[in-house]
Amino acid sequence: MLYINKKTIEAVAEPGEMIKTVENAFIAFGKGEYVMPARFGFEHHGKTVLYMPCFTPDIFGAKTLTIVPENRLKGLPSIDGFVILNHGETGEPLALLDAKSITAWRTGATGALAAKYLSHKNADSLGIVGCGVQGFHQILCICAIRSIKKINLYDIADTGDFADRLKAHCPGAAIERCGKIEELVEKSNIVVTATFSEDPVLPDDPALLRGKCYIAVGSYKPHVRELPDSVFKLAADVYVDLMHACEESGDLISPLNSGLIKKDQIKLLHSLIESPRTIESGETTVFKTVGMALNDIFASRYFYNKALEKGCGINLEL
Ligand SMILES: NC(=O)c1ccc[n+]([C@@H]2O[C@H](COP(=O)([O-])OP(=O)(O)OC[C@H]3O[C@@H](n4cnc5c(N)ncnc54)[C@H](O)[C@@H]3O)[C@@H](O)[C@H]2O)c1
Repeated sequence: MLYINKKTIEAVAEPGEMIKTVENAFIAFGKGEYVMPARFGFEHHGKTVLYMPCFTPDIFGAKTLTIVPENRLKGLPSIDGFVILNHGETGEPLALLDAKSITAWRTGATGALAAKYLSHKNADSLGIVGCGVQGFHQILCICAIRSIKKINLYDIADTGDFADRLKAHCPGAAIERCGKIEELVEKSNIVVTATFSEDPVLPDDPALLRGKCYIAVGSYKPHVRELPDSVFKLAADVYVDLMHACEESGDLISPLNSGLIKKDQIKLLHSLIESPRTIESGETTVFKTVGMALNDIFASRYFYNKALEKGCGINLEL
């Protein structure tokens, strides 16, 4: 069995390939070529464990993830865990992979697909609310989809060397930390929220919010919201990766319960991949992701094949 750690994943990952891999996962999703239960989540004293198994026709596996938001204060990742990738015929474990990197890359690629299908083709400014692990990988992937000239950052905490690390990956873009969230929204065509905030992180101001593409990554619990009501008043439809998002995320539960949006306005991202449409200038669009195990399996297979091809990873004798 091959052990593929964070260092290996970060060394071999190519954003364009990752996006293609996750796009293929969404296409497989559209064709029903998977078996995937609603993920099992269990919380105790603010710490969460998620168990996410999935079968595809030729390979299967499961991701086990821990989520401990306060870890950040200790300099540790908020999200951690492993993916086990199994042989499709025998179930033999093929690889044990670092789940924090798999999650970050497949979520970044999912955000980039949302940007590809829901942002205006000339969108060239990106705003990131929450400069953590997800925020970083959202930028790497979205910059592989759109010609981003300006990256605007906003966070409530000190983000350390985030902007400096970014510069090495996005040399063509100007990077600015915004003092106010209003400033970030105003300056960005695409806005990604990737925080642990329980209350909307964007101002509830329709004039400010109109005409942008919103990609909401953070909320994964019913009482947690990142998007304000106005986003749902402005967007004709709300795209999701999984319909399960309607039961899991406060970003959808709240506007559905208050009648701001109706269930038939919630659409799956794969439908746009199959039948893309033109995004008009001035249009407001929104995508909410909760993350799906099928993407983890496709991403893990990509990194497994890549590690085999490059002769990296560590062989573990079982
Ligand atoms: N949708 C998915 O598939 C998916 C995948 C992975 C993680 N997530 C979620 O994304 C969120 C971020 O995860 P991460 O791994 O990047 O965590 P992280 O701890 O690395 O980063 C979170 C960042 O958000 C900032 N933040 C918190 N509240 C804020 C606020 N109100 N305004 C601005 N910034 C704020 C923090 O200071 C931190 O820098 C979590 O809620 C996580 O559960 C979603």
